[in-house]
Amino acid sequence: MAEPSENPPQRPLPDGIVPEEVVTRTEKHWVIVMAAMLVIMMAVIVETGVAGALHPATNVEAIDSETLHLGGEFVESNLGTAIEPDGSATVRLIAEQYDFVPHCVRVPADTPVKFRLTSADAVHGFLLPDTNVNTMLVPGFVAEVRTRFAQPREYEMPCHEFCGLGHHAMWTKVSVEPKDRFAAQGPLERTSCAQQ
Ligand code: CUA
Repeated sequence: MAEPSENPPQRPLPDGIVPEEVVTRTEKHWVIVMAAMLVIMMAVIVETGVAGALHPATNVEAIDSETLHLGGEFVESNLGTAIEPDGSATVRLIAEQYDFVPHCVRVPADTPVKFRLTSADAVHGFLLPDTNVNTMLVPGFVAEVRTRFAQPREYEMPCHEFCGLGHHAMWTKVSVEPKDRFAAQGPLERTSCAQQ
């Protein structure tokens, strides 16, 4: 057995201690693995954003959330689906603890649809799966989202921002109907499919 050297750096390492070069090499490997994971996650975010045309709302429109019901665009008689002179549809909804008003809306398929949404109290969320419609509803602001539904389909839409104790029970329904069936309905029926 070799005599212990007087010079500490030249002494052999005791059992169980990993040499510095091995530690450095292992750390470098893990830094590369972590960097690759970050690059992959960023690429997925960019890819889904570009492919799904997801982007932050471009309009900033303020509104007084305390007087929504008293007059203006979000007065009760103006809520639901309206058909514009150019044939497109505009849907106006108010989110409030813990429901959307109206609770169910009809929209025609294969038609440009503009959602105009706002909140009367807390921050709520509005998301239609498999579409570009995904927005927060912040009191004091109007959120506007434009889309087009290719096929008739029923969307059940839970609020997806935690807004209080009744959050889990807050949802609405968006019913996309064939264009001709939608057109055959009277103005009141078109406005909403919530039970009157
Ligand atoms: Cu409204 Cu959660």
